[in-house]
Order: sequence, then C-alpha cells, then structure tokens
Amino acid sequence: MDDLMNMQGQGHVRLGSSAGQALTRRDGMLKVTGAATYAADNRPDGLLHAVLATAGIAKGRVTHLDVAAAEAHPGVVKVYTPANAPRTALSPDEKIHPFVWRMETLTDDSVRYAGQPIALVLAETLEAAAEGARLLAPRYEAEVPRVTLDDAEPFETDTTAFGRPAGHASGDVDAARSGAARHVTATVETSQQYHNAIEPHAITARWDGDRLEIDTPNQAIGLSKQTFAAFLGIDPSQILLRSPFLGGGFGSKAILYGGQLLAILAARDLGRPVKLVLRRDQMYGPVGHRAPTRQSLQIDLDAEGNIAALEHDTVTLTSTFDQFLESASNASHSLYAAPNLRTSHHGRRADVGTPGPMRAPGEAPGSAALEIAMDAAAQAAGMDPLEFRLKNYAETDPSTGMAFSSKGLRDCYTEAAKLFGWAERSAAPRSMRQGRLLKGWGMGTAQFPCPMFQAAAHATLRADGTAVIETSAADMGQGAWTALAQIAADGLGIDIDKVEFRSGHSDLPDAGVAGGSGHTATAGTALFNAGADAVRQLAELATNDPASPLFGAGNAGVTARSGRLYRNDDERSEPYEDILARAGLDLVRGEGKGAREGEPDRAMFSHGAVFAEVLVDPDLGQVRVSRLIGAFAAGRIVNPRLARSQLLGGMIWGIGMALQEEAVHDRRSGRLTNADLAGYHVPVNADVPMIEALTVHEDDPYVNALGIKGVGEIGVTGTVGAIGNAVWHATGIQPTRLPIHPESLI
Ligand code: MOS
Repeated sequence: MDDLMNMQGQGHVRLGSSAGQALTRRDGMLKVTGAATYAADNRPDGLLHAVLATAGIAKGRVTHLDVAAAEAHPGVVKVYTPANAPRTALSPDEKIHPFVWRMETLTDDSVRYAGQPIALVLAETLEAAAEGARLLAPRYEAEVPRVTLDDAEPFETDTTAFGRPAGHASGDVDAARSGAARHVTATVETSQQYHNAIEPHAITARWDGDRLEIDTPNQAIGLSKQTFAAFLGIDPSQILLRSPFLGGGFGSKAILYGGQLLAILAARDLGRPVKLVLRRDQMYGPVGHRAPTRQSLQIDLDAEGNIAALEHDTVTLTSTFDQFLESASNASHSLYAAPNLRTSHHGRRADVGTPGPMRAPGEAPGSAALEIAMDAAAQAAGMDPLEFRLKNYAETDPSTGMAFSSKGLRDCYTEAAKLFGWAERSAAPRSMRQGRLLKGWGMGTAQFPCPMFQAAAHATLRADGTAVIETSAADMGQGAWTALAQIAADGLGIDIDKVEFRSGHSDLPDAGVAGGSGHTATAGTALFNAGADAVRQLAELATNDPASPLFGAGNAGVTARSGRLYRNDDERSEPYEDILARAGLDLVRGEGKGAREGEPDRAMFSHGAVFAEVLVDPDLGQVRVSRLIGAFAAGRIVNPRLARSQLLGGMIWGIGMALQEEAVHDRRSGRLTNADLAGYHVPVNADVPMIEALTVHEDDPYVNALGIKGVGEIGVTGTVGAIGNAVWHATGIQPTRLPIHPESLI
C-alpha cells in the first residue's frame, strides 16, 4: 500500500467504488421518521427549562429587573442576572483561538445591542420560564444607538475575519490606472443578514459530579469542547459533547455564544440538567450574523479590454466589543487577471451583536460586488459579459503569482452557457421581453478557496469483515456522514454497507471544523488514511505469512478491493477475515490524520459559472428569477447527489441575498424591525425557479491526496452577481444595493 501521509499534495489517490456514487443520505431515514435526536429533544430527568431575557434597547444600561416578580411565579426556580450569575474561569473577552467570540455571560448591566442576553430564567416548565422572563419587565437607561454603516464609528484595522490581512497590494495600481484607456467604478451595498437555520441554537447540559454532558448542535466539536473547558475551568476530558444531528449550521454553529455557557453554568450551580433553546427572534442578535458592506470597486481597462488595474475596498460593521470583519474585498484577489491589484477593508463599530461567519463569509458579498463591477467593465469595453471574463481569465493567481492547483473554470463557462443558451442573448438592456415582462440574462463567476483544517480518525477492521470508522464529524444536513463513509469505505477497501460510522460526539477523534467548505477534504483525508493504515497492517500480516496466497508479494504488491487483498502480479487474493483469523486477531485498527502540510505553493480554489434569467414587472418592479444554471469545478465529486444538493442550496441562498434577505434596524431604538420569518424573507419554493447545478470533471493532484475541493459555499458566489446583472440587463438599472428593492427599478 502507498503511504498516503507521504503523498499529501503530491500524489493522487485512486479511490474505490464507493466514492463517486450518488448515494442517498445514510441519516435520511432517521430524519424523515423523526428518530434522529436533536439537542432540544433531550429530556433528562430533573430537567430545568431556561429562557433568556434579552435587551429591548440597543445601547445603555439595565437599571431594573423585577426579579422578585419572576421568582414569585409558580415553577420559576432561579433568575440569574449580572448580580448573581456564576462567573466563568476565563474573562469573557479571552480569545483562546480564532473561533472564540466574547462570551456574553451576564457580566455587567450594560447593553451593547438589541437582543443581548440580560438575564436567564430557570423553571420547571418552559411556560413558567417564559413567563418569568416576561415578568422581569426590564427598565433601562437608554442611549442613542448607532446601528448602520452611515452612523457607526470608523476604526482602522490590520486584520479582517479570522486574522486575515485587511489589505493587499500587488503591482502598481496608480501607475496602471494613469495609463489606462477606461476607468469603471461600481459601488455595491449588501445587507445585514441573520442566521435562520431550521433548528435554532439549543443546548441541554447535565453535570454528573465534575463530569459534564452537553447536547448541542455544533460545527466544531473538538474546538468547542476545548473552549467550554477553558471557560469552565475544567479539563476537556471532563466534557462529553454530543452533536449527532444539526438542523443547519451555515457558520453560526461553528462559534460558541454566551447563552450556551450560561446554561452550563446554571446546571452546575443548581445541580440539575438545564435546557436552553433560543426563540426564532433570539436568533437575531446574540448568535452572529452577516454584517452589511459598502463596497467600492474600480476597474481600469486598456484599449483592448484587458484589466490593467483592479481595486476593491470594503467598509463593514462589527460590534463595539468584538471584531469580526467581513473580508469581502478578498473576493477580488484571485479571480481575474489583474496585473495590478489593491484591496482594503475598513471597519466601523456599531451597537449590534458581533457578526460572524455565514455561508461564504467574505466571498458572498465580495463576489456580488465584483461581478456587478465586471459587468460594468464589460459594458465599457463593449464586450459580452462572458467574452469579457474569458478575456481576463486568470491563468495564475494574480495576487500571489502562484499556479492554480487546478482550474476547470473554462469548462464551467462552456457547459453552463450552453445549457442556458447564452449565445442567444441580445446585448442591449431592456431588449428582451416575455409578454409584458422585461427579461434579463446575467452571469457571474463563482470562486471559493479550498482550506483544510486538522482532523483525526480511526478505522477498525473486524474479524467478520465489517468495519467501524470513528471521527467526530458534523453533519449539519450537507450529507457529511454519507460522503465521509464513502471515502472511508474506499480507504478500507470494503463495501460501504459493511461500514458502521460513529460520529458526532467529542470522545471520538476530532474531525475538525465543518466550515470553510473544507470538511469533506479534511475529515475525508483522515478517514481514508485511517482505513489505509488498517489495510497496510493486514497486508503486512498476509504478505509475511507463508500460509497466505499473498506471501512474498510485499506491501506494495497488493491492492485492497471489496474486503479482499489482491496480488498485483496474478489473480490470487485473500479475504480480510481469513487474514485476521489466521493471525488470531479480532481486529486491526488504523489511525489517520487529515491536514495540509506546510505552506501551499499553489492557489487552491473551486470555481463555477452561474447564469440567471429574471423577469421584471416594469410597472411594479417585482423581480422573479425564472432560470438559474450553474456549472462548478470542485475537484473530485465524492457524491454527485449530495454535491448537487449543496450547490443548489448555495445558489438558492444567492437568490435570497440578491432579492430578499435584509434585516432592517429601527434607527431610533436600534432594534430590528423584522426579526422573524414573516418580515425577514428567505427564498421559498415559489421563489426557486428552474434551477440546475452541473459539475465538470476536474482532477486536482495538488489540493490534497484525494483531489477533493469543496461545494458547501461556492454556490452563493457568482449567483448573487448573476441575478444582479440579469436585473440590470432587464431594466437598464445598475444594482447598487442588495437585495434589489422593487422601488429601485421603477
Ligand atoms: Mo461556514 S460560514 O464556513 O460554516
């Protein structure tokens, strides 16, 4: 067997028959029958229900809470306020790793944003806890809040999200600009968006002596265990965190928030299990959101329509007490061949909850603005949008000069354009109609990086030929457990129905973060390596055993397939069971890791092309997306059914971002006016038209040994710009604000 650990970034592993199959979700039956247990489904004996009381002002102080009234309510057991809340072992502001936000645990009476936790009420029933929270009837000393980009406080920063540099410069933008033939500018604002996973944040916490059991949906199980332990002042080994099923994550469940910690602290303090489930409206504030951006781009063109210089600046909001800045300008770093490139970010502080990662953080708003600017540039150059993008196709990453690990983008353009019928587009705006409706066709390029994190896995082959694979991966609906089991089966050289997958809790090897579209690549590599390690041990047993038909073949002289080892030099083979039986072993256990070794010397991205058709009512300004077609190059597709579903999900998110999703503040109170699914619109079936996502073949020998990129987030990128450009083509009105409001089109 090849030593896969030595092949990271160099080789290209041949997978078996499981990877590549369009299997349905292995957890699907559990979910549709209701047998899957989510965090809020847990009802341990003696359970107390917790309800957060949250601030009704955005800035100021809580001057009074009627704790006596709340505690007098039948069933209420305890009310925690800053006066009596248990303290954490670390300061709430301690940053022990980049995924830690301020732990808001009722440390003082100040209010920093609307919806901030100000008390926690514990009761025998949910109803009593809710009534107790209502009876607190907070009184405030309110100050005038600042909640929008216009009135927020500017600050300079060297870094954006997760410590990325806030600025980049390559080449000489100013010199290139002064020599350019045309100068195109575009300004695009994107909205504040809130997480609306079907399952709200929830936790059930139970202490047994100094051991803590937590059920909570989580995208980063190992990291979360470490974080909880640090803030609780206990050893991570004292915590068991279970997260078998998540009703959506999208980034919001990669970060821990104070509410979860408060529930754990309350359970410890009261000696009873505690369950806290956020209400839908409580998702709008304390658990992250996508911050609004105001982006300014300039594209300078030479006389032939080549990009001479590209500049992209982003102004975005964060909270007054933490720092997460949407890295939108980074979307311009690597997509188009801009020999001179400058990007920057500027932060502003507002009285809002701390933003956080939301599906394609940075890239989603950044791509939207870039693609609209690219259409402006194409118009200035007098070129078709696709032709213009092809003319400025980046053969190497312009920001680093590095070659791409692979880049199937040309195929994406070709395939998607063909299916869409792009060649039939009439160039002039307002020139296409369907009945009385204006018809517009637009496109955008999709791109998303391919990070890898750290993951570990075990794979155990048993005497009966079955296997157990173990890694604490997060399946938040994307199908991770299925895709990962497919990879593991191939690593083990057995059929997938022989694989038992143990996952979703913290006593298993840590599969790392399910985020950044890197989970399949990272955890998949760990699982594959674990399986290969187990097979290597079997091969060693067999090839050194004179009684085996494999004797003398050597480790490199055998291949694993369907539960047997085959000699490479003739037809002879032996089943795993026989090898184990003769060695007198019940099992062999392999271990594997997944990570990227060293600094990459290639630029690694998934790519795609998205084409949109919209119909616009010329009188009402109402926009419907009528067709949406994307083609994506994302390396090896482990499961075409699940990958398509992820890509479609991202594209649907893009519809919401282009046309619907927008949280609106009341500027006087600083509260959100639409913190619910009635006022905050996300796409529903009627908003999702004929939609298709294709994948093109792409071999990537560099991104990782398995050639896997990612599909979770890229679908949002490209799509928003494509819809914006389609509206522009339909109406002749260049979008400057997303979502596009009907009134801006009439
Ligand atoms: Mo995602 S925003 O990396 O969960």
